[in-house]
Amino acid sequence: MKKTLLALVGTGLLFGGVAANATPEQDRLNLDKYFTNKYPDIKLDKYVYGALAFDADSMAQYDSIMDFPPFGTVIDQGQKMWDTPFKNGKTYASCFPNGGKNVAGNYPYFDDKAGKVVTFEDAINTCRTTNGEAAYKLGDPATMGKLTSYARTLSDGMLMNIKVNGAAAEAAYEKGKAQFYSRHGQLGFSCASCHVYNAGNHLRSELLSPIIGQATHWPVFRGGENLVTLQNRYVGCHKMIRAVPFAVGSEEYNDLEYFHSYISNGLPMKASVFRK
Ligand code: HEC
Repeated sequence: MKKTLLALVGTGLLFGGVAANATPEQDRLNLDKYFTNKYPDIKLDKYVYGALAFDADSMAQYDSIMDFPPFGTVIDQGQKMWDTPFKNGKTYASCFPNGGKNVAGNYPYFDDKAGKVVTFEDAINTCRTTNGEAAYKLGDPATMGKLTSYARTLSDGMLMNIKVNGAAAEAAYEKGKAQFYSRHGQLGFSCASCHVYNAGNHLRSELLSPIIGQATHWPVFRGGENLVTLQNRYVGCHKMIRAVPFAVGSEEYNDLEYFHSYISNGLPMKASVFRK
């Protein structure tokens, strides 16, 4: 057994927490196991709080900020955008099952016909364009960000429910996984260097959050006011390691989001939260 493991490491086939030939569900369970073994005192459902789960003081600060979030007015503006009919009289709610309630946890999904991953933001833009409106710039805080800061709250409490069915979907998932585990930038870090192997440790003054739960609570308001979408955060982390970021909405980031979100499957969503 030991020999096989060494051989796998030697050929680069073994990633920490996940294996190259594992199914998505095995990846998820392996990562769950990795973290519950390492941090037996922290229940997995606490991982939706990211780094806060590792620090009681920050968690208490979070709770008091979330009682009266300073960004409440932004979410209200997002609600107004969501409720305002398009010029043709249709609404966003008409584009989604259940009026858009409890749907965000099904995104991203793999669209077999289009042969690509579709994010919730993509679906919102399709809703706009099929109703004669211009698409928003993905990741723009003032438009798509603000709108989703409300639209995603309609799925608060929904359990993340990403599906990977069929060879093409699996290929996209695998590309996202390879993206997460491959080293980038002048500093030679992978996402996993920080959010798997060093999750729960400090990087300078920052506690590092684990991959599990990271996809459940977007957008965030950093410092209470700076709206950051999930893929904007990917850009930020790539810049931190001095790697050239991909574009928000690129195939690279959509595949990454697909893998990344799958790993949060089963955890409850809660949109628009405070982060440091
Ligand atoms: C050098 C370490 C480092 C690397 C590499 C890195 N990040 Fe981060 N990341 C951070 C720090 C620091 C934070 C802020 C503290 C935290 O929440 O983990 C952060 C935050 C995040 C968050 C927000 C978590 C939350 O709950 O608000 C996500 C999502 C994320 N990173 C994803 C990624 C992805 C995907 C990659 C690879 C493209 C990546 N990171 C690479 C250091 C890193």
